[in-house]
Amino acid sequence: MIERIDHIGIAVHSIDQGRKFYESLGLEVEDIEEVESEGVRVAMIPCGESRIELLEPTRDDSPIAKFLAKRGPGIHHVCLGTNDVDGDDQRLRTKGIQVLRPQPTIGAGGCRVQFVHPKSAGGVLLELSQPPANDP
Ligand code: CO
Repeated sequence: MIERIDHIGIAVHSIDQGRKFYESLGLEVEDIEEVESEGVRVAMIPCGESRIELLEPTRDDSPIAKFLAKRGPGIHHVCLGTNDVDGDDQRLRTKGIQVLRPQPTIGAGGCRVQFVHPKSAGGVLLELSQPPANDP
């Protein structure tokens, strides 16, 4: 079941630079993590019950590097939090909705994630994320 907007993913050339704006709003970076498989560094900035996720590429061939080259910095994806990413994945496939991965994979924070292609989601890259079992 989809439970909330978990975070908004924003592509930046540099977390060190990009974080300053959010810090000037009084928000704070909670955690910075590198996801080697995605070629990305991720900074999580809590914002009420949701979060801002800053995405900085670590390799020129990473999806975020390609996004920045094509479109520049800005909103990259919207993430919905779910308690059953496998069930959502199956349901979407049944309905012919295009998902990006053969099955959910492990993303930042140990969450299990799947992505819905923008063609199937009204032009928005949509992430579905299920937190690890030990999270509230
Ligand atoms: Co995300």
